[in-house]
Amino acid sequence: MRRRFILEPGTAFLNHGSFGATPRAVLAAADRWRSRMEANPDRFMRQVLPSALRAAATRLARFVHAREQDLAFVENATAGMNAVLRSLEFRRGDEILATTLTYNAVRQAIREVCRRTGAKLVEAAIVLPVHDEAALLAPLERKLGKRTRLVVLDHIASPTGLIFPVRRIAGLARARGAKVLVDGAHAPGQLALDVPALGVDWYAGNCHKWLFAPKGCGFLWARRSAQGEIHPPVISHGYGAGYTAEFDWTGTRDFSSWLATSDALDFFRRMNPSSVRAHNHRLAVDAAERLAAAWGTPLDGPPGLHGSLIAVRLPQTLQHRDARQLVARLLARDRAVVAINPIDGALWARISAQVYNVPGDYDRLRDAILKMRD
Ligand SMILES: Cc1ncc(COP(=O)(O)O)c(C=O)c1O
Repeated sequence: MRRRFILEPGTAFLNHGSFGATPRAVLAAADRWRSRMEANPDRFMRQVLPSALRAAATRLARFVHAREQDLAFVENATAGMNAVLRSLEFRRGDEILATTLTYNAVRQAIREVCRRTGAKLVEAAIVLPVHDEAALLAPLERKLGKRTRLVVLDHIASPTGLIFPVRRIAGLARARGAKVLVDGAHAPGQLALDVPALGVDWYAGNCHKWLFAPKGCGFLWARRSAQGEIHPPVISHGYGAGYTAEFDWTGTRDFSSWLATSDALDFFRRMNPSSVRAHNHRLAVDAAERLAAAWGTPLDGPPGLHGSLIAVRLPQTLQHRDARQLVARLLARDRAVVAINPIDGALWARISAQVYNVPGDYDRLRDAILKMRD
């Protein structure tokens, strides 16, 4: 499997979570789209692109059990989240409910909306390690109030890999009249996804993380009744012409990553998505349990609340260290790539498992951390 990727040899790549890694076959497909475009840009943009883009959207929509007309490509999950957050109208006193694990870029977008409108960001505190799903749901339920206009929910929390019970939380939110925006940056590919069944209003996802698409490929799904009030972050010719018309063209760009989504889905399907998910989950959990045993520290939560991402607390003697320096040192000295995140004053190493990983990759991280600890 490793040979199907162009990852540099000799490096243990345990951070699929941040940016993904694209297989050779999918990169080649994107290259073919680029060559087709450059052979006659005018013909491509005017005659080939519109239907090719919708065909790719149709493939992706089917994969997440959605209707093609409810799904549009965006650059990445951040862009999808911004499209919704910055389109909605808030008034002074309205509350936007998120959690302490919300991805920081999205928190910043919420803060900007609050600054502009007088709305207030309310954060439900998620305390690690969590012991069950209720520890993810109850803090949000407690903070849901009469003023909550919007709940912003990570499907899979970035620093930990914890899977939030989106359907249950969406049910509570909607019963109280709040709308729900889900940040599914990590979910497509890592979870079996039926987006409309979640009962949310908007769902932003990435294809370049766990769906094997080239970088710069995300999507925004909107339930039909929630499409009219949403516009892309960049307004262009399609303004007022409907949801997909507005998002499909936001100015000239390289469309190859969006168009290669079909090839990414082919790559995934050939491996059998449910086998890949089961394999990655087992690999991640086994590795995390071995790291936790060697370091004498806990996992962020039970294995059942995870897909292929999981966080383990670093040993006590490394807790005062700078996370960025640790990451840089692991890369330079030990050729191990891992995310280390400070959460509530403690440092956690987040590992990922993807089809190119083997158990020895995690041993490299384990031993490097033990060496630094001593
Ligand atoms: C929960 C969450 N949201 C958003 C993002 C940002 O993804 P992108 O840079 O592709 O927009 C990430 C990236 O790790 C994430 O974990």
